[in-house]
Parts: sequence; structure tokens; C-alpha cells
Amino acid sequence: MTGPASDPTRRLMPVLRLAPAKLNLTLAVIGRRPDGFHVLHSVFAPLALADRLSLGPAAGGPDTLHVAGFDAGPVGDNLVLRAIVATRFAVGGGWPGGPRPAPSLAARLEKHIPVAAGLAGGSSDAAAAMDGALEAWGAELAPDVRHAIAARLGSDVPFFLAGGPALVEGRGESVVPLLGLGTGPGVVLVTPAIPVATPEVFAVFDGLGGRGSGSTRMSSAHLAEELRSGLSAADLVARAGALTVANDLLQSALVLVPELVPFRRALSHLLARPIGLSGSGPTLWALYPSEAEAAVAADAVRVAVGDGRLPAPGSAAPFVTATRILTGRHEEKEP
Ligand code: C5P
Repeated sequence: MTGPASDPTRRLMPVLRLAPAKLNLTLAVIGRRPDGFHVLHSVFAPLALADRLSLGPAAGGPDTLHVAGFDAGPVGDNLVLRAIVATRFAVGGGWPGGPRPAPSLAARLEKHIPVAAGLAGGSSDAAAAMDGALEAWGAELAPDVRHAIAARLGSDVPFFLAGGPALVEGRGESVVPLLGLGTGPGVVLVTPAIPVATPEVFAVFDGLGGRGSGSTRMSSAHLAEELRSGLSAADLVARAGALTVANDLLQSALVLVPELVPFRRALSHLLARPIGLSGSGPTLWALYPSEAEAAVAADAVRVAVGDGRLPAPGSAAPFVTATRILTGRHEEKEP
């Protein structure tokens, strides 16, 4: 581990990071831990849809954060600031009498990923902030230390340190890359303007008996195996019917937000595709062989929402976009 104190005169370099959204292609809940967290078996896929994080030198004093785009709530609660503080502490600048703390950072975050949407934008921002802060300071941390910090910041954060689709197990801390997916399949995302709190969805899940289905677990294990050994985008799309029901939180999200039931049905009818739910929702997704085909479908959704053929629940028009699954490490972290 190299602390920033190794070169205190070094000028802090501005750093840019893309923080991708994620999609849960499957989500099996296979148990509950004594601390209340749930044990998962889930195939996560990162998306080209991403927040942009820039880090530069701050004037001194505490780290600062400016957020543009989607409203991410109070800046003081933002995981970006917590990630920078935790990373600074780990590189050795947090102890009285220790080396000089790593310099304060001015962070600017462009939120392109809807918030409280099941896309883990906040967790991805946190992973990007850890990685970006280390680069800005010219510091390094051993992978196991990074992983431990990420897991403390949130269940979904370790996934974003890996890059590419992965099998995520445990509370989220076990991440095994699955790098067998061919050129990035296209995805249409439709996020109704109804923020959904993940703990509430898990609470409904527990209230309904707290048991995931065996078929979700089997679909999840099967997909992980296929993504390990090699799967084309077309083959993934062909499995969409099974994948869109392989989410043990789907029922609970629909109980919590009943308006999603007719909306999901109408969206499926409009696109003539099975429609999945990402994580605890409310983002709905459909798979396409390419991003270009997803873009045509996203346009069709926007038009149908606009002319009233697809009435959307929520306080405003839904967020609709076309994106693609990022398939591996080679896909960039920097814009
Ligand atoms: O870890 P994170 O703060 O992102 O989790 C948000 C909430 O989601 C937790 O408070 C918990 O209610 C729920 N959760 C869970 N089991 C997981 C991950 C999240 O119960 N594996």
C-alpha cells in the first residue's frame, strides 16, 4: 500500500470516472442473515448508462460535492463523500500523529442514472469515488482492502470494483466475474417516477413469507453457468422470458407499487417482449440483440407515453432510455 504522503508535493491530478448503472438479470433471495440482510444469488450486468464523476483539488477544508442531473438527495448523505473519507482513512491519513492526510477533493457528479430506481447508481458512484480518489492522490490499496471498504459502504458497491457481468452472492460481497457474454446486448430501461426504497421491498418480501422460489435460483445458477462458458447477445435475448420472472423481489415490488402491474403488462404488450424488474425496482427492462434495436424500441415507448397509449404511473413522465450491457474489463472506466 502506498500512501499519498510518499509524494506530498505532487500536484493533485483531476480525475474523471464513469460510474455505470447495473441491471439484475436474475435475483434469487436464498436466505436471511442474523443481521437482517438477505443472502442473494444474482447475475449483475453493468450498463453503458453511467454517471460521470470528476475529482479535483479542493480549496482546503472538507471534501466538497456538487451534483447535477437527477436529484440525489442531501449532499451530506451522498456515498461519494463517504467513499472519499473511507479511502483517505485507509491510505493512512486518518490517525492523529500519522502522515499528513490525503488532500481534500472537490467532486462533481453528473447524475444520469435515476435515483432509488433499482439501478445502483449511488453504489456505483461510491466505487468510482474510491478508485478516482486513489488515482488523484497517487495512492494504492491492496484489492482486499478496497473490497472491505466497498462492502462497508453498501451491498452493491463491491460489484462495481470488478467490471463486467458477475455472479453476486452473499450480501453482495462475493463477486465472481462472468466474462463470456458476446457483443453488448441492447437494453431498454423504463423507470416510472416512483422512488422505491430497497429496505421496504425486502420488508414486504419478509412479510410475504421470506422465501425465494426454487425456479429463480435454478434460472440464476443456469445463467451464471452460461455466462461463464460463453453466450451470444442473441442467446441472452432468447432467454428473456425465463430471466424476466427470475427476480424474487418482483412480487414484493408489485405489492408495494401496485401501479407497476398494469404498466408492466402494457409495456410488454407495446414492445411485444417480456419485461423484467431490476433489483427492487421500479426500473423495468427489455433485452434486444443490439443497442440500435433498443433505441428504436425506446423511441416507441416515448411516443406511446406522449400520446397517451401507454399511461405511466408516477409524479412525472418515466425515464426511458436505450443502453447496452458492458461485457468486460476492457470497457472503459474513464470517459
Ligand atoms: O447495503 P445497502 O445499504 O445498499 O442495502 C440497502 C438495504 O437493502 C438494506 O438496509 C437491506 O434492507 C436491504 N438489503 C438486504 N440484503 C442484501 C442487500 C440489501 O436485505 N443482500
